[in-house]
Amino acid sequence: MEMNSTLSELCSALQDSFSLDTKDTDVVDRESEVNLIQSVLSKSLKASTGSALYVCGLPGTGKTLSVLKTALKIQATSKRCDVIYINCMRHKDARDIYVDIYHNLKKVKKSQINFSTGEIINQLEKTFFNAESKRMMFCILDEVDHMVSRTNKDLYRIFEWPFEEGSRFTLIGIANALDLIQKHLPRLSSCGREPKLLHMKPYTQDQIYIILKDRVEKVTTEDFVQDEALRYCAKLIEVKRGDIRKALDICRQVMARKQLEFQRHGKEDLEVDEYLLSLDDMMDMMDDVFGESNSPKIKSLPLHAQLIVISSQTASPTALNYLTFAAVYKEYLSNCSLVYLDPVNRNEFFDVLSSITSSGLMSLDTNEKVEENKRRITLVFNKDDVVFGLEHLKMLRPLLDQLESTNIGGEQ
Ligand SMILES: Nc1ncnc2c1ncn2[C@@H]1O[C@H](COP(=O)(O)OP(=O)(O)O)[C@@H](O)[C@H]1O
Ligand SMILES: [Mg+2]
Repeated sequence: MEMNSTLSELCSALQDSFSLDTKDTDVVDRESEVNLIQSVLSKSLKASTGSALYVCGLPGTGKTLSVLKTALKIQATSKRCDVIYINCMRHKDARDIYVDIYHNLKKVKKSQINFSTGEIINQLEKTFFNAESKRMMFCILDEVDHMVSRTNKDLYRIFEWPFEEGSRFTLIGIANALDLIQKHLPRLSSCGREPKLLHMKPYTQDQIYIILKDRVEKVTTEDFVQDEALRYCAKLIEVKRGDIRKALDICRQVMARKQLEFQRHGKEDLEVDEYLLSLDDMMDMMDDVFGESNSPKIKSLPLHAQLIVISSQTASPTALNYLTFAAVYKEYLSNCSLVYLDPVNRNEFFDVLSSITSSGLMSLDTNEKVEENKRRITLVFNKDDVVFGLEHLKMLRPLLDQLESTNIGGEQ
């Protein structure tokens, strides 16, 4: 898709490319994770023995995509293996899952599988534990936490299948929780049948950027999308725990919005130096999406007020865990020198601080009996708000970097 296609068509194509689809999507920048999955599966295939892997991580870390793509890739190069993908969330009980496996394996209509659950299990085991056969079964149980029950009888059975005598059944369980196995299936480790563990960490901003960029480049190599727009999105999504779905959703939404704009104004060409998707478009979208946040307010504050806002996040609280005027002032002075800015004097500081409190972002204890230095400051915003709001200011970059490196994971 190049220059001569209309702006609206370009917007559509970009929207499509930012989709959450797994079908035509390559796994980008998950090399070591994919390698691990691949090595478990190919070893199992080569040796014709079952194996078990548990993949965990927060939503939108590429678990489903990485597992599915890797399994299908191996299947495509070997005639000896079947891949079954089952999303446990879509099944009402364990029987439903056995039925689904049976249906996939034997190519029998689900409505015809009307014998008892015990019989289904029997038949499955006969097929899986068959030393004569060289066929391997790769079974992916996604959202496997939905199978957790009081006794976990079925989870135990399925997680033990790979280890039974002559087993050709390889299981990949996927869920969010890091501790699902220890918590719900502790017996596995005591009998040496614990699955291998793969923990997918949240995407970093660099990875998110690379994934988004890759999607854009699939549509066009021209300079339609401002690089900073993708970087900005990636940065903020990293702060929001690296859920790649959110990044893709936002990119889709922003393209839909632009498309509407172009159609409404009958616009057919971009101006010189105009982007189809600019940093400003992205910032507006982010503001809307995270609308409840305080970042727009922070963004519109004057510079020294913004410095105070940052300083209030990094200042040291008292032993009783609250912020004082003195602590924030001290932090402000040191932050000013870090970015080579002359600080305002103490009286002016008080005024700027008051302007922030009147915008509703923080409150200052006004008890006249308390000495000014010891007055308590309470914040209404959080670290994300600050990073979102001030991200675009190059000058404050060093302070934001410092802010982001403090208390990682300390907030929900
Ligand atoms: N590494 C990646 N490269 C390209 N696209 C990705 C990647 N990881 C995730 N995605 C996209 O995000 C979507 C959601 O990822 P998914 O694997 O379902 O996450 P999870 O299962 O961890 O919640 C995928 O369908 C895919 O479109
Ligand atoms: Mg998933």
